[in-house]
Amino acid sequence: MIPKLIDYFVLKNNCLMDIISWHKINAMPLCGGTYMPDTEYCLYFKKNRKLNTNYDTAKTHYELPINVEDKKKYKHPTIKPLNIIKNFIINSSNENDIVLDCFCGSGTTCVAAKELGRRFIGMEINPEYYKIAVDRLNGINANGQTSIFTDFEKMG
Ligand SMILES: C[S@@+](CC[C@H](N)C(=O)[O-])C[C@H]1O[C@@H](n2cnc3c(N)ncnc32)[C@H](O)[C@@H]1O
Repeated sequence: MIPKLIDYFVLKNNCLMDIISWHKINAMPLCGGTYMPDTEYCLYFKKNRKLNTNYDTAKTHYELPINVEDKKKYKHPTIKPLNIIKNFIINSSNENDIVLDCFCGSGTTCVAAKELGRRFIGMEINPEYYKIAVDRLNGINANGQTSIFTDFEKMG
């Protein structure tokens, strides 16, 4: 997707761009003739906008392990580090603003927004992940979770 996004935002719409990277220091060591999938990128595009960055939140490179505990706790295979998402939200919004995540998975962005006093809208296509996100927002992790399907059965 990266070339398409750069083409659209930078080349066609004259946005400025930053690329923020998360290098996973405990990525799976599989190397079948390829580089390791050990880095995720966040592309940030802006036009005439100043960020609320401070020294802690302005950095563009993170070296952090995949959070195995959170993966187990919230049962999402690609859960993102809460602290990185919090920094993005601090940089790009103010209290009471609305943060939108169209692919919210286990709800990391929504939790980060809630903890930072922002309102939020999260969308998730998978009903199991949707329920995990709602439960997580209510302080319930995988240990206290029931399946959305068994909940529906109980409701008759
Ligand atoms: C990379 S994961 C997001 C992980 C999330 N940031 C977290 O920390 O848990 C992307 C999510 O998008 C969801 N998804 C994929 N296509 C979607 C669509 N068309 N509408 C809504 N959600 C979608 C997937 O089910 C998946 O949970």
